Amino acid sequence: MIHIFRKGSDESLPTLVLFHGTGGNEHDLLPLAGLLAPGASVLGIRGNVLENGMPRYFRRLAEGIFDEEDLIFRTHELKQFLDKAAAEYGFDSGNLVAVGYSNGANIAGSLLFHYGGIFRSAVLLHPMVPLRGLNLPSLKDVAVFIGAGTNDPIIRREETEELESLLREAGAEVTMLWGNQGHRLSSAEAEAARDWLKQQS
Ligand code: MLT
Repeated sequence: MIHIFRKGSDESLPTLVLFHGTGGNEHDLLPLAGLLAPGASVLGIRGNVLENGMPRYFRRLAEGIFDEEDLIFRTHELKQFLDKAAAEYGFDSGNLVAVGYSNGANIAGSLLFHYGGIFRSAVLLHPMVPLRGLNLPSLKDVAVFIGAGTNDPIIRREETEELESLLREAGAEVTMLWGNQGHRLSSAEAEAARDWLKQQS
């Protein structure tokens, strides 16, 4: 997969795994990663699917209607890539933090839904419920920060709350931050996520 790995200056910090939004790339969230955990190693991954030339992590049939077969396939493909990247770059695959925005938050959510504690923590910015009807693995040792918008035009409040409940029922510790910036990333949520992440170690 197309990606960028930058080794951090502080090896005691977790490695941040970055998942961009639709139309983004592996570089997009590097500035956010620098704010969230200065000194941490980062792995930015470009989604392997193209929608009208725009990279994303899995196919969709329409806005908010996912191609579930492809979503599951891409989830496993990413897990294999993460294992390979850990071996190649020498980062600790037991100490990863996912940072995902929009489509990137959805694939990070799917990785948690399929592989439980693959991430120690996850910063999910404007996520949806990636899949329904799964028996989730235990997320007992996983902490999740969700940044959501009360006026997000593509994610209903109930869907965000459904995701929050699913994660909590699987044992995750979930912290919610509601803002009013629509589907956009806001500096308020980036700063809140940074403060939250500091408390996780
Ligand atoms: C998705 O397809 O994952 C969501 O609709 C978010 C997006 O627009 O990428």
